[in-house]
Amino acid sequence: MAWGNEATDSRLHGTNIAESVIDLIGRTPLVRLKRISELENIPSVLTMKMETTNPGGSSKDRPALEMILAAEADGLLKPGGTIVEPTSGNTGVGLAIVAAQRGYNCVFVMTDKVAPEKVSLLRAYGAEVVVCPVAVPPEDPTSYYKVAERLTIELEAFRPNQYQNPNNPIAHERTTGPELWEQTGGRITHFVAGAGTCGSITGTARFLRAKNPNIKIIAADPEGSVFSGGSGRPYLVEGVGEDFFPAAWDASLYDEIIPISDEESFLTARRVSRAEGILIGGSGGMAVAAAIRVAKAAEPNDIVVVLNPDSGRGYLSRVFDDAWMANFGFLKECEQCVGAMLGHRGNTPELLYVNPTQTVRETIDLMQTHEVSQIPVCKNTPPFANAEVSGAVDELELMDAIFHNPAVMEMQVQTVMGPKLPTIGVGQKVELAVQMLDSAAALLVLSGGRPLSVMTRSDVLSYLQAVSAYG
Ligand SMILES: Cc1ncc(COP(=O)(O)O)c(C=O)c1O
Repeated sequence: MAWGNEATDSRLHGTNIAESVIDLIGRTPLVRLKRISELENIPSVLTMKMETTNPGGSSKDRPALEMILAAEADGLLKPGGTIVEPTSGNTGVGLAIVAAQRGYNCVFVMTDKVAPEKVSLLRAYGAEVVVCPVAVPPEDPTSYYKVAERLTIELEAFRPNQYQNPNNPIAHERTTGPELWEQTGGRITHFVAGAGTCGSITGTARFLRAKNPNIKIIAADPEGSVFSGGSGRPYLVEGVGEDFFPAAWDASLYDEIIPISDEESFLTARRVSRAEGILIGGSGGMAVAAAIRVAKAAEPNDIVVVLNPDSGRGYLSRVFDDAWMANFGFLKECEQCVGAMLGHRGNTPELLYVNPTQTVRETIDLMQTHEVSQIPVCKNTPPFANAEVSGAVDELELMDAIFHNPAVMEMQVQTVMGPKLPTIGVGQKVELAVQMLDSAAALLVLSGGRPLSVMTRSDVLSYLQAVSAYG
């Protein structure tokens, strides 16, 4: 059920001492979500597989170990060898732990978008971290894909490639599945997990289905990811959802794929952490949100298991930071806030935007028709729910650009656009909007993490005017 104990030292016989930290990977506990079940009136038994008790704090310790053991067996990793993987997260930690015990070097390649704590964490385990610019296309020699490729060749390294490596799902088939079967006495009826590489869901499902073909397998997916039919972007939950189908994706195993919004994922993570005293992250919140739906519809004797991949500790500056949450429009800081100002507006369409490939001429037409002096530039339209903000243009910039070069008129707007507008959450205070509009001509209002509307000084003025008239 786990990776057989390698204990060879006879002095450990009769003790409960693990031979090394590697032997502590897997065999994670299963706990009932009792408080959440009460709060949600859940008739069935809702339980959580706590992957946080793995030595690296996540489910990724399992595939990390399995991939390294398989590489050793296949002769791809020799004593003192090097592992190169483009990863910023949990898989890196798992690989670093196993590498430390088995005497390998680790080089992790990541982009400069990654939070500095993640770099520090991997370095703390003794790994080398190479940081590459995020703002270059994948084919650029300095992109993180290309750097990882080059280093793998130069260092004659082993590249686990968790998205393609069959030992990733095998790790869960060999351990997570059997553990759940045993922990529930063979009574598990539903398994819910988020999908990234799909290793966890597919591997666990393979084992469980072989034991009982009636067990329901449910994938939780961030709204916007391809697994639940999206384009792959944009969403804020980390570690799950993709813009391509990894090797372990196997739709024939999944009964249902439930899309969950960033807002529901984050708010559920916060609620579970408080109600149960179990600190979980955004992807755990997403999985629990899906599991709550499943468990509500299940029968009283059903046992629903949700896999929690990692801890909320890695997300303190995001999911658990009220200011961050409010700025994305996930939390309300006041009653009469930015949202109330928008409510005061006439019949301006909710959000006006142009596509990056539209011409400057089309952009100006749109701006004039709607009498706006700036407009965001967004990709992925329609449906607007998937819009990804790329930048913005304003009439001053456009006037300047066309004056100096009239050919700009027929160029794509993305060639002349400026930076994105500063953002404010729909639930943030009016005084913050006033303060921000001191230096910015317009703000992009976010609700549930998504752009909702553009707010200008004149919007604030008409709101204040209306309020003082009532007042
Ligand atoms: C935080 C987090 N949650 C969930 C997952 C999804 O697990 P899997 O890659 O096995 O599908 C990952 C994967 O990276 C993750 O990091």
